[in-house]
Amino acid sequence: MAILNMRILPDPILRKQAKKVAKVTPQLKKLVENMVETMHDQNGVGLAANQVGSLQKVAVIQTPDMEEPMVLINPEIMKKEGERQVEEGCLSVPGYRGLVTRSEKVRAKAMGLDGKIYRVNADELLAQALEHEIDHLNGILYIDHLVDHESLYKITYAPDDEEFEEDGVEDESEAPAAPVVAETSASGGED
Ligand code: NI
Repeated sequence: MAILNMRILPDPILRKQAKKVAKVTPQLKKLVENMVETMHDQNGVGLAANQVGSLQKVAVIQTPDMEEPMVLINPEIMKKEGERQVEEGCLSVPGYRGLVTRSEKVRAKAMGLDGKIYRVNADELLAQALEHEIDHLNGILYIDHLVDHESLYKITYAPDDEEFEEDGVEDESEAPAAPVVAETSASGGED
């Protein structure tokens, strides 16, 4: 297993459409293993192939309450329900978070490493991660879903701890309250 090199905005691969995987090969399994290791190393909740330089349509997700990573080959959102605003970050957009519009519930379909198609109904963080990672495979980033042009926040780190502060928010009470952040660690650190 290996930790893969992260692609960072404005790397053009982040804006490319990933290609459908025809079948599960040993090479694909290896890519998935390395993506899982890289996601854990970066304290991310999810990772899409574009982010590590591959245009195969594959993503991995592991929220803090999941024991095993979810492997999504050729994933698609089948149905969306409701709207909500959530705070979000991305390993490929370091140093920022944004307030975005996401669905309340999603139904997705994907193939697993066993080659079988499965469906997942999700809400909360898993729904957000599914939308975020499937977007990546279609060349879309969370910054495309910002609530408005002011809802992208720069993050600055305090020198001696991992706590972060949001820059450019004049009044603390105006900071977004939603603690749910995709691709970040449960401890609230930046991805
Ligand atoms: Ni991302």
